[in-house]
Amino acid sequence: MLSRINLAGLLLLSLLLLLRAAPAPGARCPRATLVYQPPYPQINASMDASNHHGIEDGIVVRRRDGSFLLVGAEMYGDPVWVAMRLGVWASIDGLAWRKIRTLRQSSANFDGTDIHSSSWGPFFLYDSKRDTWALSYVGYRGAPSNASGWLSNFQGTIFSQYAPVTGDAGLDSDFGDAHYRATDRIVLQPDDFRVNGPWPYVCQGLQGTDSFYAYQLPNGTWAALVGTSHQETPDAWPGGKWPVSLATAPDLMGPWTRYNPHGPAPAAPCVDLNGGFSENPIVSHRPDDPSAYHLVIDWIGREGEGFGYACSQDGVTWDPATMVKTPTGCRTPFGLLPMTTQEVDAFAAAILAYGVINATQLHAPNTALQWAFYTRNTGAWEVFQTSIVQLDWN
Ligand SMILES: *[C@@H]1O[C@H](CO)[C@@H](O)[C@H](O)[C@H]1NC(C)=O
Ligand SMILES: *[C@@H]1O[C@H](CO)[C@@H](O)[C@H](O)[C@H]1NC(C)=O
Ligand SMILES: *[C@@H]1O[C@H](CO)[C@@H](O)[C@H](O)[C@H]1NC(C)=O
Ligand SMILES: *[C@@H]1O[C@H](CO)[C@@H](O)[C@H](O)[C@H]1NC(C)=O
Repeated sequence: MLSRINLAGLLLLSLLLLLRAAPAPGARCPRATLVYQPPYPQINASMDASNHHGIEDGIVVRRRDGSFLLVGAEMYGDPVWVAMRLGVWASIDGLAWRKIRTLRQSSANFDGTDIHSSSWGPFFLYDSKRDTWALSYVGYRGAPSNASGWLSNFQGTIFSQYAPVTGDAGLDSDFGDAHYRATDRIVLQPDDFRVNGPWPYVCQGLQGTDSFYAYQLPNGTWAALVGTSHQETPDAWPGGKWPVSLATAPDLMGPWTRYNPHGPAPAAPCVDLNGGFSENPIVSHRPDDPSAYHLVIDWIGREGEGFGYACSQDGVTWDPATMVKTPTGCRTPFGLLPMTTQEVDAFAAAILAYGVINATQLHAPNTALQWAFYTRNTGAWEVFQTSIVQLDWN
């Protein structure tokens, strides 16, 4: 009897050891550690005198020629957060940036009547089926705050438009800027929106749909992590004010529906990354398992520490986020991009001199270096910062 139990125990133990020794690909979320940051910000006030408050959210994408293109929400004027425009910046090496063009300059209307009062949360999204880039962004109404809540940016609505030409040439277009009010498509808007409430949906508050990052699931269906903020007064929903949730669509341009496996679509459950303090998730594929996903978020409430990082096997179910510490805090991450071997070689000396990892760790198996671009508050002007993180799945 005893020996039979021992045998069973032994079998269980060896099974556990086997599982530990050989985790399924992507089963374990990599650890993300900042291993290099230049001692100065890459975009600052002196580089654009016409921008009075800096850059907040957006993304950096990689072109096929290896260079980088950034689209970011520029808080160029006053009222701050209302007089907005989308700035496109380019860089060859990730360090030196120059402004290329301005898109979607907002009306800064402040009587609540214009959904293009402010432009925020821009992304370049690549549609591989069409080999075409799209620009997406959030349009808001704006008005003085009152008993209904905070109204500088409300009823966030997601607009998008394809580039007029295929391939990376589309990134050099203006995405129909001259006639965008007529031609931008609404891809997602808040359900049953009333500025004075009621607020029936846990993941949809007064700010509306305040971010939208679209990516493809393994079966080809599009998914998007979408944000909101419960800026209504009072906020009757327990938990964080900034939850995110999922929407899905057969095509990048829609039709998009809120993802609710358990019931009616608008009442989608929130995706709990950090208790509802998540802004601007950006999703990409993982280096340890290219079919799995990871994301970065602005971790509201802990922006002095860094940014959030979380993993998903299937793009639908997400693990809780961990904090990636940055030396200067982080307002909003602009996504992660894999470094090329040439870039790793070019930065190896700087990374070692920075002192977080040594040469053994730099070249360790089951690790990868990625660019981590982000913005950060400096008091007066929100600057753009380049950094490098190491992902480690040992
Ligand atoms: C701003 O950036 C420019 C270009 O990198 C640099 O020369 C300048 O010293 C920076 N200024 C501040 C205040 O960081
Ligand atoms: C607050 O302002 C908005 C936008 O102008 C308006 O629609 C709403 O009715 C106002 N709420 C209250 C309580 O006055
Ligand atoms: C793909 O997977 C998602 C998530 O499980 C599901 O909602 C969707 O219906 C699937 N699409 C197809 C075409 O099967
Ligand atoms: C690098 O750091 C690791 C972890 O601290 C340590 O185990 C290893 O000995 C170090 N290697 C060298 C060459 O210093």
